[in-house]
Amino acid sequence: MTKSLQGKVAVLTGASRNIGKAVATELVKRGAKVVIGDVLDAEGEATVKELNTSAGEKVAAFIHTDVTQYSANRALFALAESEFGGVDIAFLNAGIGTNANTMFLPMDDAMDDRMLDINTTGVVKGTKVAMLHLAKRGGGVIVNTASVAGFLAGPTMSIYNASKHGVIGWTRSCAIYQPVCNVRVNAVCPTWVDTDLAVDLAENDEGNPFTEIFAKMPRVSSETVVEAVLTLIEDESRNTQTLLALPGGVIRPQEPVSQYPELVNDEFAQIAAKRIPDTVAYYKRKLEEARKREGI
Ligand SMILES: NC(=O)c1ccc[n+]([C@@H]2O[C@H](COP(=O)([O-])OP(=O)(O)OC[C@H]3O[C@@H](n4cnc5c(N)ncnc54)[C@H](O)[C@@H]3O)[C@@H](O)[C@H]2O)c1
Repeated sequence: MTKSLQGKVAVLTGASRNIGKAVATELVKRGAKVVIGDVLDAEGEATVKELNTSAGEKVAAFIHTDVTQYSANRALFALAESEFGGVDIAFLNAGIGTNANTMFLPMDDAMDDRMLDINTTGVVKGTKVAMLHLAKRGGGVIVNTASVAGFLAGPTMSIYNASKHGVIGWTRSCAIYQPVCNVRVNAVCPTWVDTDLAVDLAENDEGNPFTEIFAKMPRVSSETVVEAVLTLIEDESRNTQTLLALPGGVIRPQEPVSQYPELVNDEFAQIAAKRIPDTVAYYKRKLEEARKREGI
């Protein structure tokens, strides 16, 4: 197999185990170096050891990272720079499913905030840090882990649905950064994969009839999810794409609503088209300000 990602460096969150680990392993197979940030230190260190041992050289590093904190996200990307010289790829994959079925759970601020802080705001913070590092490198790609639960919703998924719909919206808001600084932002949207998180989401809820339904629902293989992520990384035509990973090895984009005709008239369309170069120039200025302010 050709090492299509030779010389590339990837940062991955939530990659100590399961989906993130599978993506890290494939990235290394294709020649990339990987830096993993996760709150599961023992699993993360073990994953990195496994990758380095089988490569016979240093191809991976780990740092304890809580994605809810800017300082931790910054330290993660800084490590990639000091270990391997910079960052080309970010896979923002950390997530939780705990207490998703929240409607009649206690009115506990910390509990509900936690889901959105990790699954949604964690991705926003990771993207902001990644954007400056990738721009510094001359471009790159960010893949966020959303979910089929970012499009389909039900009572059991509840706040998890909200968190993943948020990742879809955030990803789709990022189209401008390709012309601004050559950074593409995409999201992978798998259906059920048999991992710890899936069990947490669907099974640890005694008496919920969904538990029985869940057992029968078709799963997507981890291999299909990895293939979808690698497609989003390697295919430079994909920007702000939300790519479904489905059972039977099916990978296809979920198209967004393009526009509501009631919201556009000819005058608006003409002005909007004319202002694209100004908008790109505006964001180029904003990027430089941000890089100077943050020292990245
Ligand atoms: N398993 C599924 O059915 C499924 C389907 C669609 C999407 N997803 C998404 O895939 C991603 C990976 O999940 P998974 O199924 O491999 O489960 P997982 O629980 O094995 O992986 C999630 C990882 O995120 C890490 N994490 C949690 N909180 C963190 C924090 N604050 N900072 C840093 N890392 C943190 C965990 O320690 C873990 O390693 C998640 O975003 C999940 O929502 C999963």
